[in-house]
Amino acid sequence: MKISRRDIIMRAIQFSEYGSPEVLQLVDVDAPSPGKGELKIKTLATGVNPADFKWRGGLFQQVMPLQLPHIVGYDVAGVVSEVGEDVTDFRVGDRVTASVQRGYAEFVTTPASFCAKVPDDLEIAEAAALPCAALTGVQLIEDGLRPTPGQTVLITGAVGSVGRFAVHAALSLGVRVVAAVRPSQFDEVRAMGVDTIIDLGSGTAGDLSFDHVADTVGGPAVAGLCKNLVPGGSILTVATTPVNPEGLAATPTFFGFHPDGERLAALIRDVVSGKVSMPVARRLPLTDAAEAHRLAEAGGLGGKVILIL
Ligand SMILES: NC(=O)c1ccc[n+]([C@@H]2O[C@H](COP(=O)([O-])OP(=O)(O)OC[C@H]3O[C@@H](n4cnc5c(N)ncnc54)[C@H](OP(=O)(O)O)[C@@H]3O)[C@@H](O)[C@H]2O)c1
Repeated sequence: MKISRRDIIMRAIQFSEYGSPEVLQLVDVDAPSPGKGELKIKTLATGVNPADFKWRGGLFQQVMPLQLPHIVGYDVAGVVSEVGEDVTDFRVGDRVTASVQRGYAEFVTTPASFCAKVPDDLEIAEAAALPCAALTGVQLIEDGLRPTPGQTVLITGAVGSVGRFAVHAALSLGVRVVAAVRPSQFDEVRAMGVDTIIDLGSGTAGDLSFDHVADTVGGPAVAGLCKNLVPGGSILTVATTPVNPEGLAATPTFFGFHPDGERLAALIRDVVSGKVSMPVARRLPLTDAAEAHRLAEAGGLGGKVILIL
């Protein structure tokens, strides 16, 4: 088989120093090869997550310094271009989405167990929006808080990418959701099937009480709302802005997501059947990664930013 130059050298976006979006550079680097149990994916779309600009900006450099230069990107969707040894569930040509490392690149490799097939009726950019945020939202509820039917869970940032999948998971379990969002987001969260909605910025939840809190925002206003947690409940947060534990019935605890291809496949089925959605707000070419970071970091978009290759 003829190997083209593009199969060996690929375009990618990397940074060589921490800093503002301008540190992102388009470069040619070696394309990866799949190891045992891995897929090589030709990337067609890669999702921008808050983690991308937080790593780039150096937020984690004291606790987890990166080896620079570094290619960011944790979500891709594309087509399987090569299948590693021992992979039985995927074939070359399959449309897939996956949790990855170094996603801002023409090719990625990742364990097949982190991948899910993308049906023809789901657009590839929409598929690239899902893995990290959707899995985080669902795992936060199902694995982290584990509420029982009839309990009440406060979900902050409920129309955000993580928050909307936390709402989906909670409602699916028969849990009563109180959503804390901006006033401009009340209608959207109501349309998701939530009827008790509070202004997150007010920092007060009146006479409402919560059995658990699923936080995706963090900060003092969330700490104010958490004062209404009943004793015995849990506060889990995925946010990097801390929630002050003073005066709360439980200590806010950080929750981290893990890649899971089977669960991702189930979430894709829920998206395709209209049970939950992940809006795509902007699509930009890979070469506009810096602008994509500026937009995502500014917030207020109402959906994901996706880089198209
Ligand atoms: N621990 C993990 O494994 C993990 C995984 C994924 C994400 N995360 C973290 O989870 C957080 C949310 O991620 P995401 O992908 O859901 O981001 P996102 O799509 O931008 O959603 C964030 C939501 O929170 C809202 N929000 C932000 N600040 C607010 C405030 N002060 N008051 C009211 N609403 C506010 C945003 O509204 P606007 O757009 O109007 O600002 C948006 O609706 C980020 O900190 C991210 O780093 C952690």
